[in-house]
Parts: sequence; structure tokens; C-alpha cells
Amino acid sequence: MFSSIKKWLNERKAAKAKKNAEKQLNAFKATLYSCGDNLKLFGTPEIMGTKNLIIGNDCRLNSGVYINARSGVTIGDDVTLSCGAKIISTGYDVEHWMETGEKIHTVDTPVYIGNHCWIGANAIILPGVKITGEYVVIGAGAVVTKDITESKVIVAGVPAKIIKNI
Ligand SMILES: CC(C)(COP(=O)(O)OP(=O)(O)OC[C@H]1O[C@@H](n2cnc3c(N)ncnc32)[C@H](O)[C@@H]1OP(=O)(O)O)[C@@H](O)C(=O)NCCC(=O)NCCS
Repeated sequence: MFSSIKKWLNERKAAKAKKNAEKQLNAFKATLYSCGDNLKLFGTPEIMGTKNLIIGNDCRLNSGVYINARSGVTIGDDVTLSCGAKIISTGYDVEHWMETGEKIHTVDTPVYIGNHCWIGANAIILPGVKITGEYVVIGAGAVVTKDITESKVIVAGVPAKIIKNI
């Protein structure tokens, strides 16, 4: 008798938690420019410029992910951002700053991440970078400063370079 009540209470609790998670996910998706199906959130990502962020199908964002999409960020299908990974689409225009003393953000530096990529823990993708290759693995802690056009490669280090074909 007591065990069946306990079971019922646990099921009710689990159903409520699932409903809340779905609500949270839908609320997050509604803030974006667009988002495909089957997004999985593990923790809460921090996003700046949500209206300039496009996320494809079957993507996963882990805890501590930070995306600055002020200049636009497009993420393809089946992309995983591991814990602490950062995508940054803008920074100060240094030339303008030195000439005028005024700090303005760059706007011509959108970031593109192609399909089937895995961005390792604490990796940083800098403004303007385009990963047009597919099945690209970015190693933990890498700082990606240049475009990656090759497919099926592992890229790692600071600045990031191809270390392996896969
Ligand atoms: C990039 C990665 C996938 C490579 O794995 P791998 O194919 O097994 O590579 P290896 O361990 O054989 O390493 C190959 C070489 O690259 C170096 N290397 C591996 N990962 C590196 C990294 N993240 N940064 C710099 N160098 C790295 C290794 O030291 C090794 O160098 P060596 O040939 O001079 O000895 C893995 O190291 C990695 O970074 N995984 C990410 C893990 C992660 O973020 N998990 C997310 C949890 S939320």
C-alpha cells in the first residue's frame, strides 16, 4: 500500500520535472532566431544576442556554454558544445579604438559552425571563424582563430591547428 503511494508520488514528481524541463527548453528556443528539432540542454547556456543565433537539429549544449551572437552565430546540425565552450562573434574594433578613442563592437564577424562538429570543453571560437568542414573535433582548451575548411579533422592547441585526420 505505502510502496504504491510512494511509487505514484515519485512518478508524479518525475512527470512534473519533465514538464518543467520541456517548458524551460521551449522558452529558451523561443528567444532564438531559429532552432531545429531535438535540442538537448545540460545546464543553462549563457547567450548574448539571442535573436542572432541559429541552431540546427540534434544539437547539445552543456553547462557553462557561452555564446556571444551579437554579430551572428550559426550552428549546423548535430553539433555538441561541451562544458565551458565559448563562441564569440564580436569584440572591439581595435583600429577604430586607436584612431578615435571610441570602443565600438565589430559587426562583420559572424561565426559559422558546420554540421557534425564537436567543440571540446573550454574551447573558444573567435569572431569571424567559419568551420565549413564537417565532422570537425575541436580539442579541449583550443582557441580557434582561423577558418577550418577541412572535414574529418581534430584541431587543438592555442592557436588551434589540425593535429589529426579522422
Ligand atoms: C582532441 C581529443 C578528442 C583528441 O583525442 P585523441 O584523438 O585521443 O588524441 P591523442 O590523445 O592521441 O592526442 C594526440 C596528440 O594531440 C595532443 N592533444 C590531445 N588533445 C589535445 C588538446 N585538447 N589540446 C592540445 N593538444 C592535445 C596530445 O597531447 C597528443 O600529442 P603528442 O602526439 O605530441 O603526444 C581529446 O584530447 C580532447 O580534447 N577531447 C575533448 C574532451 C572534452 O572536452 N570532453 C567534453 C566533456 S563535457
